[in-house]
Amino acid sequence: MERYSNVVAHIQSVLPPDTRPSLSRSVIPTIIHCIDGIAQALRTSHQVSLAGTANSFGDDQLNVDVLAERIIRDEIAKCPSIATASSEEEPTERPSRETESAAHSESSEVYTLAFDPLDGSSIIAPNWTVGTIVGIWDGASALHQTPSEKQIAAILGVYGPRTTAIIAIRVPGSTPTCFEVGLGGKDGEATCEIVRSKVELLSPPFKTRYFAPANLRAAAEDEKYMKLVTHYIQQKYTLRYSGGLVPDVVHMLVKGHGIYVSPVTTTSKAKLRRLYELTPIALIMECAGASAVDPVTGKGILEEPVGDCDERGGLICGTADEVSFVLRSFGLQ
Ligand SMILES: *[C@@H]1O[C@H](CO)[C@@H](O)[C@H](O)[C@H]1NC(C)=O
Repeated sequence: MERYSNVVAHIQSVLPPDTRPSLSRSVIPTIIHCIDGIAQALRTSHQVSLAGTANSFGDDQLNVDVLAERIIRDEIAKCPSIATASSEEEPTERPSRETESAAHSESSEVYTLAFDPLDGSSIIAPNWTVGTIVGIWDGASALHQTPSEKQIAAILGVYGPRTTAIIAIRVPGSTPTCFEVGLGGKDGEATCEIVRSKVELLSPPFKTRYFAPANLRAAAEDEKYMKLVTHYIQQKYTLRYSGGLVPDVVHMLVKGHGIYVSPVTTTSKAKLRRLYELTPIALIMECAGASAVDPVTGKGILEEPVGDCDERGGLICGTADEVSFVLRSFGLQ
């Protein structure tokens, strides 16, 4: 983990002295290491078009979702303070190791991981940008906890022409922080560089305004959504939407503003998983100064506990003023 010493130093500089040594030295570097491993696995997997299908070419030809899941499971098993894990691939909370190591009982830090190993299966085959989403929770379970208090960090792995990771940390008693690292150097050299030590949304005015209308088909049945999309078009917003939750959210974090809307309507059901997609994304957005709210209740995504690993919802996130505008358009404010 020598390679991540700059990341460790950065995390330690934003946390109060001597707090959460395992989080900074072990948990977060381990996940960054997984992201690097998944990026390499993707570059060398040529059967990605099988991802998400029941079809299989044989035992050792795994689809990339399963490959990413394995990389994460194998690495976190070596990380003593991660007690529990569940994922989009295996949505049941269970101990992250078969047998509890002695190291675990000695550590005062106990974490639960909730992750989506490879988000964006439907756009993997055309080689579009996909991502990994990870939420890190205090304690031995992420369920029935208030996310705003118990989810203390979240990480996005972004697999495009470049591999990057966005890391947000919000532990009680310290200032929330969000930063970005770049992975991999020339000739496959294993490097990890802090690209931006502060990922933060900007203040208006903006020359260009961006919108990302997810679940756009729903506009055909939902007048409010149709009116909202029409508003963006009439106001000459620029469309920036790939259909991958990670790259679509990262676009706002890189440009410093924007609005992402994934509504829930009577005919189009909630699709995004609260534990593996919504709560980690919401923490990243909040740490960067953005808002992330539920399109049905208008409440913050992180206000309501997750009761079940499979719970789903919609999402409105981005620049606070833009989020308020959507809430008003939906009659929620
Ligand atoms: C997919 O994209 C990556 C990064 O842009 C590139 O290195 C790779 O060659 C592409 N693979 C295919 C099969 O197009």
